[in-house]
Amino acid sequence: MGFTTKQIHAGVVPDPHTGSILTPVYQSTTFVQDSVDEYLAKGYSYSRSGNPTVRALEEKLTVLENGFDCTCYSTGMAAIQAVVQATLSAGDHAVISDVAYGGTYRLCTKIYQRYGVEFSFVNTASPETVEMAIKDNTRLILTETPANPTLKLTDIEAISAISKAHGIPHAVDNTFLTPFFQRPLELGADIVIHSTTKYFDGHNATVGGAVITKTGPLDESIRFVQNASGVIMSPWVAWLTLQGSKTLSIRMERQTANAQAVAEFLEAHSKVARVSYLGLPSFEQHALAKSQASGFGAMLCFEVDNGAEAGKRLMDSVKLCTLAENLGSVETLITHPVTMTHADVEESERRRVGITDGLVRLSVGLEDVEDLIEDLGQALDGL
Ligand SMILES: Cc1ncc(COP(=O)(O)O)c(C=O)c1O
Repeated sequence: MGFTTKQIHAGVVPDPHTGSILTPVYQSTTFVQDSVDEYLAKGYSYSRSGNPTVRALEEKLTVLENGFDCTCYSTGMAAIQAVVQATLSAGDHAVISDVAYGGTYRLCTKIYQRYGVEFSFVNTASPETVEMAIKDNTRLILTETPANPTLKLTDIEAISAISKAHGIPHAVDNTFLTPFFQRPLELGADIVIHSTTKYFDGHNATVGGAVITKTGPLDESIRFVQNASGVIMSPWVAWLTLQGSKTLSIRMERQTANAQAVAEFLEAHSKVARVSYLGLPSFEQHALAKSQASGFGAMLCFEVDNGAEAGKRLMDSVKLCTLAENLGSVETLITHPVTMTHADVEESERRRVGITDGLVRLSVGLEDVEDLIEDLGQALDGL
């Protein structure tokens, strides 16, 4: 069965009571039991431990990522936190991509370091560097690829082989490309993380997260954390995300085509100093992008001449592109990582990994691409 058929039908069956084609929003705290002896006969007890609307989304995402099972969360950060809590204890160590969403860095350095967990943020684009960073107490390798915001790639197959040799789970944040373009579990990873806020929702309507696992034991330990910590997805968010997911492949195709055209326009513009987009032959890891994913996605970043001040002026002068945090939605969003998504990453660390003051991040949406190019063109011409 093709991906688009699965994204529409997986996990969803007509409601047995009414025939409703959409899974209903089961907005209920608790579920009435038949008897003490037949407790859980219908599968649900209390909505923190499981909810039928959320379950439909979990089943859909399991099929799309080709995993064993899935758990959904209140946010993408809660999903990352569940993986950290399920795999790391005081005294343990994790190896993490040095370029990643700023919230991942903040969660590890500002919270879990206080609990005695150690983190090494390393260049996961280099398998040798990952190998060298592994210690006796390493219990997790967490990579984000493509990474937010510079799009640096990690070779999923190479890092999974290293993690396997050391018996350490490899978790991949697959938010930027989604399973339509990239399926880390098929490349050897053990866990996939998503901020469903982004492409699965696709409409700037919700915040949510998901963890898809390859094996039963991994799923069991993460599911335990989901219930024990209570950072669950609500039925309403699951319902909206279920509807968004049905058009994922179509949106990804069109947004990616738009992103390619926008990247080529920017690269040719005299006032643009540098463009990073997986689909440009000039992108340093273009070959890896082609070999481990079936598409380049709709995220790009660039720098204009005259650095940070000119970059800020550009972001303030676009009219159709919207200055906002978030990505993956039908609206094109323009973001300044240094003051927005990566504000909590120390300046020295940002500099070390190439998140410059003048970097502009663009999440290309579904608009007519001529309109996007015209808008960026007028903003660039005004610099
Ligand atoms: C790659 C990536 N992972 C995780 C997150 C966190 O997701 P959320 O905002 O849903 O908590 C983000 C947010 O931007 C992200 O870009």
